Amino acid sequence: MKRIAIFASGTGTNAARIIEHFSNHASVQVAMVVCNKPQAGVLSVAAHHQIETLLIDRDRFFSGDGYVTLLQEKKIDWIILAGFLWKVPPTLLQGYKGHIVNIHPALLPAFGGKGMYGQHVHEAVIASKNTESGITIHQVDEEYDHGATLFQARCPVLPDDTAHTLAARIHALEHQYYPRVIEELLCR
Ligand code: GRF
Repeated sequence: MKRIAIFASGTGTNAARIIEHFSNHASVQVAMVVCNKPQAGVLSVAAHHQIETLLIDRDRFFSGDGYVTLLQEKKIDWIILAGFLWKVPPTLLQGYKGHIVNIHPALLPAFGGKGMYGQHVHEAVIASKNTESGITIHQVDEEYDHGATLFQARCPVLPDDTAHTLAARIHALEHQYYPRVIEELLCR
């Protein structure tokens, strides 16, 4: 069994899809949800599915062991970021080399980097007058939104789109593909 920890600090709609996709899966299990915000919706998602949660502390994450010891004790094999905004520290990158994946709501390398999250991404895409956006699923390295691309999917940006309507189209793509791409990666 490959054990996943989902790192998320937002609403957790992607986390919910991933949890549902792997419930009763033969070889992949979502073992934990790791979060840095006590009020985050993703904690209710985890509770609803009876998945263990871990609320992490900034000091231990950035200046301590990056929670590597605890994650290893819990036999976590893969870390899946789904709306997790803290940068992954070097200790954790080293502990889980090649086993940390992120999803970004645009076609990287465009519209990525520090500060490019949530509505900021979609506002920038609309301001650019691009007629296409999409999602990128990628390996995580020491730079924001930078590691090797594993998968991209595209969707149109329509002339009357707002950040809100574009976000909804992107979210639908994320929900459709993120669980499948994780499955392909972990089960290949
Ligand atoms: C997603 O759009 C993802 O691309 C980004 O954060 C968002 C999380 O949304 N990294 P949700 O909490 O899964 O709804």
